[in-house]
Amino acid sequence: MNEPARGGLEMRSISIAFPGVQALSNVDFAAASGRTHALIGANGAGKSTLMKVLAGAYDHYVGEIHVDGTTASIRSPRDAKAIGIQIVYQEVDTALIAYLSVGENIMLDQTVHGMGGRQFIRWRELHEAAGAVLKRMGISIPTRKLVSELTLAEKQMVLIARAVAVDCRFLILDEPTAPLSSSETARLFTLVRQLKSEGVGIIFISHRLPELYEICEDITVMRDGKGVITGQLSDMDQATIVQYMLGQRMEQQFPDRTPVVGETALAVTGLSDGGMLHDIQLHLKKGEVVGLAGLVGAGKTELCRALFGASPGAVSEVTLHGRKLRLRSPNQAVKQGIALIPEERRREGIFVHEPVGTNLTAAVLSRFTRAMAWLSPAKEKRAATEMIERLGIKTPSERTLVRNLSGGNQQKVAIGKWLLADSEVYIFDEPTKGVDVGAKKDIFELIAGLAARGKSVLYASSELNEIIGITDRIYVMYDGRIVRELDSDDTDEEELMIYCTGGGQA
Ligand SMILES: Nc1ncnc2c1ncn2[C@@H]1O[C@H](COP(=O)(O)OP(=O)(O)OP(=O)(O)O)[C@@H](O)[C@H]1O
Ligand SMILES: [Mg+2]
Repeated sequence: MNEPARGGLEMRSISIAFPGVQALSNVDFAAASGRTHALIGANGAGKSTLMKVLAGAYDHYVGEIHVDGTTASIRSPRDAKAIGIQIVYQEVDTALIAYLSVGENIMLDQTVHGMGGRQFIRWRELHEAAGAVLKRMGISIPTRKLVSELTLAEKQMVLIARAVAVDCRFLILDEPTAPLSSSETARLFTLVRQLKSEGVGIIFISHRLPELYEICEDITVMRDGKGVITGQLSDMDQATIVQYMLGQRMEQQFPDRTPVVGETALAVTGLSDGGMLHDIQLHLKKGEVVGLAGLVGAGKTELCRALFGASPGAVSEVTLHGRKLRLRSPNQAVKQGIALIPEERRREGIFVHEPVGTNLTAAVLSRFTRAMAWLSPAKEKRAATEMIERLGIKTPSERTLVRNLSGGNQQKVAIGKWLLADSEVYIFDEPTKGVDVGAKKDIFELIAGLAARGKSVLYASSELNEIIGITDRIYVMYDGRIVRELDSDDTDEEELMIYCTGGGQA
């Protein structure tokens, strides 16, 4: 075996099984110090599991791990940390302690493990040390702020700060850019480059293939729990990567549609929420897919939530087919035919401790409980199984708990749940976040299918190419207002970007 010259780690023939799934089979993986290695694969391919093995989350795997040429026994998080392996998990919101401050979270490991018998914490020292870490990262979040008050992007930064606050030789970043805006991503990449120049070996998981070329030198592609190829990223273009990921070529990402647009379904006027949103006016027609474009933080999520009755301060006039709606709660919204597939799906969209089947049929149940006292178990199972198939949800059965699915497959459950409920208006908030290219295509096809059935779709996203690809018409949001309305056929990413960044206003 030839070891990487500058030191590094090597995983050899790693296998691990869970009830009903062989998650990894004989996977080889190596990461060198001072380089960034992209770990790529479709949802459920085994990326997170492989990295969890490396971070000591499991002790029932087989295979060997070597660090700098010597065998390392990694069976617990403590073993991994002792070697300098740090991981920033995909599930950002569960990895931090919400009611503690930023500083306390960053210094958590040292506070818990490093204080020995000391009975008190030196708060000033703690905040100074945490502040120094943030400063080195070029991040300005006050260390005394509570984690519960942070945005998703800020939480992500705090998690990375926590990882590099201790001795860190290898840093695993599991889909770190999914919740980040492009400027936040740029900042993260600056930090990655800096850590790399300090000799840290970085393993980077992402479904956004273009960004790999900005920071990665090496790449390993996984499929179905196996390693497919390892090599230099510069030797592989995106189409080749996708082909390795899916085991086949992907012809076309967006479905061919001939939109049949009917009369106005949803009409909204004068929507304000006393905070972010100002005097929003929009409408959706039957059979129409309408984009809501805007950068992270433009107010898209707030608008989606307000339309779903989830924003207590919102006032507006909303009609559906001319009928006035009362949108005081999500429950009311659902009953009146509006569905929201929320952005923070793990927190708001799904019950992770419940089985896949229960999650998929939950929305149907809540909508029809009055009309139908119950759904027969056989019917429920059939509905769930059908949705699992249509969305390609990778799960051993409909009885599997959602928390045991891969991140992207959890997203698909959140989406499938609302597709089963028969609504008139579907609001998607960043539906492709964390979803692999193949699954994206499935989601686009489902959206096209909804429109073909005469439903109205509002599609909020900061991925401008996807907005252009899937929608008929686009509203651009900037700073809590709708600043432009465009025909999807008559615009391009460049023009959208200008409006999204507040440009082009008379
Ligand atoms: N604790 C567990 N119990 C049961 N099955 C699990 C567990 N952890 C992972 N799996 C299964 O192992 C497979 C690989 O999952 P993993 O989370 O590693 O995928 P991934 O490549 O990270 O996907 P994604 O891009 O969606 O995050 C999946 O089929 C998943 O359901
Ligand atoms: Mg994962």
